[in-house]
Amino acid sequence: MKGIILAGGRATRLLPLTAVTSKQLLPVYNKPMIFYPLYTLLKAGVKDILIIIAPDYAGHFLHLLGSGKKFGANFVYEIQEEPRGLADAFIIGEDFIGDDNVVMILGDNIFTEDLSEHIKSFSSGGRVFAKEVPDPQRYGVVEFDRQGKALSIEEKPTTPKSNYCVTGLYLYDNRVVEFAKNLKPSARGEIEITDINNKFLESGELDVRIIKGEWFDAGTFDSLLKASVWVAQHQDRWEGFGL
Ligand code: G1P
Repeated sequence: MKGIILAGGRATRLLPLTAVTSKQLLPVYNKPMIFYPLYTLLKAGVKDILIIIAPDYAGHFLHLLGSGKKFGANFVYEIQEEPRGLADAFIIGEDFIGDDNVVMILGDNIFTEDLSEHIKSFSSGGRVFAKEVPDPQRYGVVEFDRQGKALSIEEKPTTPKSNYCVTGLYLYDNRVVEFAKNLKPSARGEIEITDINNKFLESGELDVRIIKGEWFDAGTFDSLLKASVWVAQHQDRWEGFGL
């Protein structure tokens, strides 16, 4: 299984903080933000990791993370010139992914529970993780039937069909590369990961798992603060791996 951390974008929502560095390098309590998604992958034994970054602060990432050797892993980097959407990661990463399955995590997503077994046990189709949130319209939202089976996923709906959002951890088999290449940009001009999820959902191959632990998309001032406070109170969760 190959890993991708998507840490591109301009993060204009976090200006002026992001006028001097990348969002994913900002502190979440005592570590740079990207350490948390990195930890999620390393803990699950994912060692070959592609880190996709924006051009502006590429050197900062290299300085912080290097080759990956000090984490017992192997990092490669690609520059994403323009933020074209999350699904672009599978096009940028085509050669890196090769014939393997892939797990992608967003560089600003902090998962507080151990998801290793969910990652290690993946074999085919797609697998995503849903979390109940108070503000689903900010995210991709899953609609479930009475039996708890996922019916559809909508990206940032104005009238969400549930309070369950799709978090930024995605597992796919190798078909994801072809699916990504055939996507049409959405109304917001991006190729959407939600369209990939719906593609797997339509063929009955998307496994939607609900997570119970705290989860943060640390891309706003409020969520960044909340994540820092939570991490400060639960330091023991992030041990080892030289992080
Ligand atoms: C992206 C995805 C969305 C997902 C969210 C999780 O949103 O498009 O489906 O729920 O990440 O963090 P964005 O960060 O582009 O607003």
